[in-house]
Parts: sequence; C-alpha cells; structure tokens
Amino acid sequence: MAKVTGIKVKGIGSYVPEAIATNEDFAKIVDTSDEWITQRTGIKTRHITNGEPNYYLGARAAEKAIADAGIEPTDIDLIIVATCTPDFYTPSEACLIQREIGAIGSMAMDINCACTGFDYGVDMAKRYLQSDDDVHTVLLIAAEELSKFVDYTDRSSCILFGDGAAAFVLQKQENALYASYLGADGNGAKFLAARALKSENVFRTNKEEFDMDMPELKDYFFTQDGKEVYKFATKALPNAVLKACEKAGISPEELDAIVPHQANVRIIETAAKNLGVSMDKMVVYIDRYGNTSSASIPMAFCDAVAEGRIKRGDKICLVGFGGGLTYAAVVFEY
Ligand code: ACO
Repeated sequence: MAKVTGIKVKGIGSYVPEAIATNEDFAKIVDTSDEWITQRTGIKTRHITNGEPNYYLGARAAEKAIADAGIEPTDIDLIIVATCTPDFYTPSEACLIQREIGAIGSMAMDINCACTGFDYGVDMAKRYLQSDDDVHTVLLIAAEELSKFVDYTDRSSCILFGDGAAAFVLQKQENALYASYLGADGNGAKFLAARALKSENVFRTNKEEFDMDMPELKDYFFTQDGKEVYKFATKALPNAVLKACEKAGISPEELDAIVPHQANVRIIETAAKNLGVSMDKMVVYIDRYGNTSSASIPMAFCDAVAEGRIKRGDKICLVGFGGGLTYAAVVFEY
C-alpha cells in the first residue's frame, strides 16, 4: 500500500428536504406500482423540495459538516460545489452557500460532472490542498434538486430521482492512503441529457436547428436512455474501483466499504458481482433517497457513518458514474 499526500476528512454532514414522495404517491400520477419500482430500482421513497432552493440544502449540509469538523466558517479557504441543478447560471451555488454560511473571502466555485461530481471534487480539493500553501481547508458540497428537471409524466425516469445535499470538510494528510481514477467518454453525451437555455438572440437570422447530435428533448426536462446508461454503469463502476485500488496498491477486498453512486440497486449488485466483492461491502441507501445525482455518494457516506457501518480508519472507495458520460473513483482512509 503506497503512502502519499492525501486527504483528512475533518467533518461531514448531510441534509434532505422534509417532504417525502413514496412509490404509492407516484402510482397516483403515472402508470406504475410500488412492486415495479422496488424490484427494478430498489427505491421506496425520495425527499423532494417544497420550494427550498438548492443552495439552501447545500448550506444546511455545510453547516453540519463545519460543526462536525469543529472549525469556523471563516477557516474555509475554498468552497467547491458539485451540482448539475444550480439555482442560477450566475452566481454560482458556491457563492450563494458562502454568503449563507458566513465564509466570506474564501474561493468559491461550482463543478458539473453530473453524478460523479463529488468524486471529482474530492480529487480537485486534494490537488489544491497538496499544491497551494494558501489552501488549508476545503469545504466540498454536493447539492442537487433533480425534481427541477424531472418530467413527472415520464414513468421510466420520474420515479428515480430525489433532492438532497451533503458536505465534507477536507484538509491535507501526509503519509496517507489516497488514489483516484477519473475519466469521461463524451461519445455517450447523448445518453443522459437536460438542456440549458437555447441560443436565441435578436440578431439571429438562421432559424435552422444546429445538429448537436443529442436526443430529442422535451423542453428542459431530463431524458435518458436507461438501457445504455445501465450497460455503461455496470462496467464503468467496477472498472473505476479496480483502477483506483490498483493505483493505491490495495485490492478491492481490502476496502472496508465501497460507496457507489445510488442510481439503481441492480447496477450496484452487478458491479459487486463483477468486482468479486460481497454486497456487505457496498453501502446502499437508495431505498430512502432515490438518485440524488452528485449528492448520493456523500449522503450515503454520512448515513453509513451515523449508523456505525463506516468508522474512523476504514479504507473507503467512493465510486460514481453519470451524465457526460463520466466515471470516477477515489480511495482514502476515513
Ligand atoms: N413502472 C412500471 N413500468 C415501467 C416503469 C415504471 N415506473 N418504467 C418503465 N416501465 C416499463 C417499460 O415501459 C417497459 O414496458 P414494455 O416492456 O411494455 O415496453 C418495461 O417496464 C421494462 O422497461 P425497461 O426500460 O426495460 O426497464 P429496466 O428494467 O431497464 O429499468 C431503468 C429501467 C430503471 C430506468 C433502468 O434502465 C436503469 O436504472 N437505468 C440506469 C439509469 C441510471 O442510472 N441513470 C443515471 C442517471 S444519473 C444522472 O446523471 C442524473
């Protein structure tokens, strides 16, 4: 096992809106059933915002992580927010959360890697902490409101998603276990999409639609090719774990817990089988929250810590896949 400059997770916290939508609630609005959703996805309930904006969820999670770390908001040098459902194009969620929690003066930026955003954020934080003497404490947040772009008439996708947020306070750790494996395959861009504002302006004379090689999209709603994403995920997930473990000089069996992106329990089961590890190693809370995109991995991590399934000193792999298509795994000691 190679020891390198890595990360120390000083504090963690998560937050979900109070309102819950059950499978039975979905059966009232689309042609579905609790049985179908449970068997095909593992989801039972998801939390859905009742008007609280995305930054509000992120700020509440951040406050918990800051309290858990025993630091002051003013100790934070850099705020990174992973989100694909921001409240504004500008300002960033990071600036809104900075204002909300009173961390004025820190650097603040958003990243968008869809469901792998938290893994990318951990790796970005580690690189700042390692190479920049001005950055000692990073607040990494994933905050998502998928309910914003869910098409609640499309039964194949609306049942999957929920809202929520989670945050880590990170500092540098010498002689640590740390490795990451991050990547993307833009050829799969068309398999998961929700569009931004179209390029309309008063000077536009060309009324032809530019061929962006993307699927037919209904307004600003999220669309996916579930089968293609499923195929991609069941390969990308185990591969990313293997590659990150290889770099860390450990085997997947030596990990105490693997926290995968919570999209579908069947994807996680297949990934565990392909990896040759038992489901006991996989942290799964999809039944409670559904798919909360980039927030799903840290939210599951927080629940696992609260329930004693993850303890200090455990070797952890956070692994995600998502829109882009992107994939990422990070290995570290909690
Ligand atoms: N209730 C009842 N029936 C349904 C529902 C539903 N909610 N949704 C689909 N069906 C039907 C279909 O219409 C189909 O019926 P048919 O055979 O008469 O045509 C049948 O169930 C089977 O449909 P499939 O699409 O084959 O179902 P599958 O088992 O593949 O499950 C699912 C679909 C859950 C979407 C699965 O493909 C999946 O999880 N894919 C990965 C999705 C994913 O991980 N997305 C990541 C998004 S992350 C991000 O970036 C935001």
